[in-house]
Amino acid sequence: MTRLLVAGLAVVALALTSCEQRLSPSAERGRQVFLAQCVTCHGPDPAQAGPIGPAVKGSSRELLEAKVLRGAYPPGYMPKRSTKVMVPMPALAGEIGALADYLR
Ligand code: HEC
Repeated sequence: MTRLLVAGLAVVALALTSCEQRLSPSAERGRQVFLAQCVTCHGPDPAQAGPIGPAVKGSSRELLEAKVLRGAYPPGYMPKRSTKVMVPMPALAGEIGALADYLR
């Protein structure tokens, strides 16, 4: 009986993890960009602060566009930090939508 319960829980856990990993093609692209360009400062988990940068999960497309491309913030946005350590990366203009899909 206990064995059955453990097996059942394992199946549920497996289903939950695989569900979480299934990203849309755009979000998967955003994940790749994040791992290549952002992970050194923001760490591998966008929901948590990295070694240098703050948590960025939930960043809107508008915020990403302003911060990543121009080093700025959308009008009225209250930044998580008042520093200006992050260098703008205008070359990522084509990846903002994918990043937003990944971080949503
Ligand atoms: C050189 C380290 C570094 C890199 C690389 C970097 N960031 Fe940042 N990021 C920071 C720091 C530090 C901050 C806090 C503000 C500041 O000092 O610029 C920040 C702030 C942000 C913010 C604003 C958070 C908020 O709500 O106030 C967003 C969004 C963001 N980063 C996204 C990204 C994305 C996406 C990438 C990759 C394309 C990236 N960052 C690459 C260091 C970095």
